[in-house]
Amino acid sequence: MASETVSNRTAIRVGVVGVGRGLSMGGSDAATGLELVALCDTWQERLHQAGERLGVATYVDYDEFLSHDMDAVILANYFHQHAPFAIKALAAGKHVMSETAACHTLGEGVALVEAVEKSGLTYMFAENYPYMAYNQEMRRLYQKGHVGEFRYGEGEYVHPDPAEVKLGRSCGYDHWRNWIPSTYYCTHSVAPVMFITDTRPEKVNAFVIPYDTEDPTQTRTAKRSDTAATIICRMDNGAVLKSLHGSLRGHGNYVRIHGNQGLMENCRHGDKQRLRVWREPWEKRTGEPKETVYTPDFPVHHERATQAGHGGGDFFTGYHFAEAIRTGEPPYLDVYRGVDMSIVGVQAWRSALADSATVEVPDFRSRSVRRKYRDDDWSPDPARTGKGQPHSSVRGRIKLTAAARKLAKKVWKSQGFDVAGM
Ligand SMILES: NC(=O)c1ccc[n+]([C@@H]2O[C@H](COP(=O)([O-])OP(=O)(O)OC[C@H]3O[C@@H](n4cnc5c(N)ncnc54)[C@H](O)[C@@H]3O)[C@@H](O)[C@H]2O)c1
Repeated sequence: MASETVSNRTAIRVGVVGVGRGLSMGGSDAATGLELVALCDTWQERLHQAGERLGVATYVDYDEFLSHDMDAVILANYFHQHAPFAIKALAAGKHVMSETAACHTLGEGVALVEAVEKSGLTYMFAENYPYMAYNQEMRRLYQKGHVGEFRYGEGEYVHPDPAEVKLGRSCGYDHWRNWIPSTYYCTHSVAPVMFITDTRPEKVNAFVIPYDTEDPTQTRTAKRSDTAATIICRMDNGAVLKSLHGSLRGHGNYVRIHGNQGLMENCRHGDKQRLRVWREPWEKRTGEPKETVYTPDFPVHHERATQAGHGGGDFFTGYHFAEAIRTGEPPYLDVYRGVDMSIVGVQAWRSALADSATVEVPDFRSRSVRRKYRDDDWSPDPARTGKGQPHSSVRGRIKLTAAARKLAKKVWKSQGFDVAGM
């Protein structure tokens, strides 16, 4: 973990793309030394409101935004468009922190890795879930050998919502939230386990919980992908990771690490920020309890981090991004780990469509591995149709009902989204 002392306090001037999620990622902050100087968004009304409120420059056009005098760019634009935006920013000499996913196809993964290598600039993948206090504490304990060697782990990101809420955050039929396959949004569940144990997935087998025709939180929305996905990852140390994410009932984020000398997990009832550590009675030291349950502090900036969103994770992504820029050392969540975590979701979709067959997760640190995937544009993105492209659901093409379309337009209109002609 980086120390609390920030070596050089010169502000790092950042511009943020995307005034939804982006506004909770890259604000000016004395503790990180980031200073927000510009915003970019194509949704003009929201952009100008945010720009006025924060007193910073605003841009509708990304190329013009990149010419603003600033050091770094934070990408919170659409889920499936981060890699080309990152590559452009690096070419313009800006450090980049990118929201999930780092890349949407394997070809983009190769291009992104190469752009970062060529630039010599800082790239950080903004996965915030590893930085929740219990995950940082599990990493600390794991690194000290507290539970022995990692053998089996679980990461869960279960996030159901009513139809109106889902529609409110996915304006337009082809908004990414309406078509990304159920395996793709996997980094919140995969990343914490990789972070705690320093392992990387080598192979995946995926299982999909199909689109539920009896669930109004699906049938009343414009979403045409499945309910949830379980991805089994074979890690590079032989361990197995089970990732679960999607909109099943039972909202929660859970991480569990079984080592060969103990277990660590955040609690599933009551205060879920609590950590439970278990050691078998015959293995624990004399006087040591079998079970310990406590709420860990953050390793640094505890007071500041407790004010931040996503269990403090939103503070630590900015903090480590700024540290990496100042020191010139790549952050832990560098481009290779960002791409690893992101392409798990893509390869898992290939697996799910092949009856859960085993699919490799190529390691783009190796130049020779890149060749096979350089032109891989496989995606169900409605803007990339063509021969061989997959559907968004294991059920094939999902047709929206007239009632769902009517409700969608009503909700989108209430958000200020232009529904004329839909
Ligand atoms: N880490 C987390 O906890 C977390 C939470 C929410 C969202 N996210 C991620 O943040 C990103 C944004 O999500 P969101 O919830 O804000 O919803 P969103 O994807 O609807 O918002 C994206 C914003 O980017 C803008 N945009 C799109 N294309 C643009 C372009 N070419 N130029 C400028 N602006 C453009 C849109 O108008 C919109 O305001 C997604 O990648 C999502 O995965 C992460």
